[in-house]
Amino acid sequence: PAVGVGRSHAKAILLGEHTVVHGTAAIAFPLPALPVRAIARPGRSGPREVCADGHFRFLAGEAGEGGPPSGPRVAVEEALRRWGMTGVLVEVDVECDIPLARGLGSSAACAGAAVRAVADLYGRALDAATLYDCVQCGEQVAHGRASGIDASAVLAHGPILFQRGTARPIGIAVDAELVIADTGVPGSTHEAVAGVRRTLDADPRSARRVLRRATELIGSAATDLSEGRVAELGTAMFDFQDLLAGLGVSTPRIDALVTAARDAGAFGAKLTGAGLGGCVLALTATGTAPSVSAALRAAGAVRTWTVTARSLRSPA
Ligand code: MEV
Repeated sequence: PAVGVGRSHAKAILLGEHTVVHGTAAIAFPLPALPVRAIARPGRSGPREVCADGHFRFLAGEAGEGGPPSGPRVAVEEALRRWGMTGVLVEVDVECDIPLARGLGSSAACAGAAVRAVADLYGRALDAATLYDCVQCGEQVAHGRASGIDASAVLAHGPILFQRGTARPIGIAVDAELVIADTGVPGSTHEAVAGVRRTLDADPRSARRVLRRATELIGSAATDLSEGRVAELGTAMFDFQDLLAGLGVSTPRIDALVTAARDAGAFGAKLTGAGLGGCVLALTATGTAPSVSAALRAAGAVRTWTVTARSLRSPA
């Protein structure tokens, strides 16, 4: 075909962001309601890395070098290298419905959709491991040091438990709703990951304590999730938020949204993704997402999305 197409979607982390970079597990789920579409064509010269309202175009391949390195471009160039296609110039148009820099995996999702589109254009078979590796190459550029959870979750069809490069599907038996609230503030993953590393390096003893506590919370949350204990799961989310705040990645705006969710009766709430802005995730009883969403917007959220736990059970 003259063009290739590829898709991917956003993700949200339920528990384990940041500590996952330092070896703990983390739980994440895909958000197919926020898709990314990419179209690949044989490359022509033209504008590079232009970006407006979630639409951007980039050139990848040797002759395409010149613009600032971006995760999606690095991912596509890694795929071309693996296919022995270095020197080939390819143009990729990306339509991204995911708000950028809000902890919802936009960089990994754009990279995933772009690599799939280029594979489609050139009729290349793309196995899951190769796709993950290419997206992860892009993420290393975007995040500094990426655990791989974003690359896994934006390519996954259901909730995953991720640890040290390996994702496995995780069962969900809770009956609840999840509300995602956007602070409207972009947060730099690169900056947040670097800040957490500095905090942990500065006090190794307290770092061990934090990672031990994170491991406990994530382990019990995984069991609560698969055995349907929603109130306990919510408590683990509030506790994990406290832990993330201690690592310096919460902000007054995030704190205000977490408090608003708590006051509106949510079982739990915490930042999701890298923090320093981005989004808050709240766990609510079935049927109460509208009132919790309204409370979050009243407390400053610029938009909210709701996902039912039930929809996460069947593969998207
Ligand atoms: C970002 O969505 C999640 C972080 O843990 C970074 C990573 O795992 O690569 C903050």
